Amino acid sequence: MYTGLVHMHSGLRWIALVLLIAAVFTALSRWQGRNGYTDGNRKLYLFTLISIHLQLVIGLILYFISPKVNFGMISDKLYRFYTVEHLTGMLVAIVLITIGYSRSKRASDPTTKQRLIAIFYGLGLLLILAMIPWPFRNLGAGLF
Ligand code: HEM
Repeated sequence: MYTGLVHMHSGLRWIALVLLIAAVFTALSRWQGRNGYTDGNRKLYLFTLISIHLQLVIGLILYFISPKVNFGMISDKLYRFYTVEHLTGMLVAIVLITIGYSRSKRASDPTTKQRLIAIFYGLGLLLILAMIPWPFRNLGAGLF
């Protein structure tokens, strides 16, 4: 079960990233071009939120069963990353994306709706990119 969850968490990152990038570019261009807000946009932003929340659920389970989460080994770069840095950074990113979605949903003006997604999802995307254990960071993680 552990190995399956790691692969799911690792693979789902690509779906979450593609959706997040598409959402940020869509929101940015429609905000700047004042192109309005469509049902298609709403669905893209919602599916992006769902994929990120799915990562949160799998990540939380992994946090309790992963051998890479260990407070006793916090002085080691690899353990510190998964025990503190990955958790904190991703939680902040997920909170930003969730706030962006709900504030955008409540806004009435179409340009404001797009602006809120562009800003909050954009910040979340940057933070997620910085907090992914990419192979070049030597944190014992792969690409899938
Ligand atoms: C959008 C949010 C997230 C993304 C994109 C993401 C991505 C990743 C990736 C790519 C790995 C490496 C998997 C591998 O070994 O190949 C990983 C590992 C891990 N993530 Fe996340 N993560 C996210 C959120 C979270 C959250 C919120 C938590 C904790 C609550 C978490 C906990 C973990 C743990 C414990 C591991 C280590 C698993 C292991 O190899 O034992 N992740 N994450």
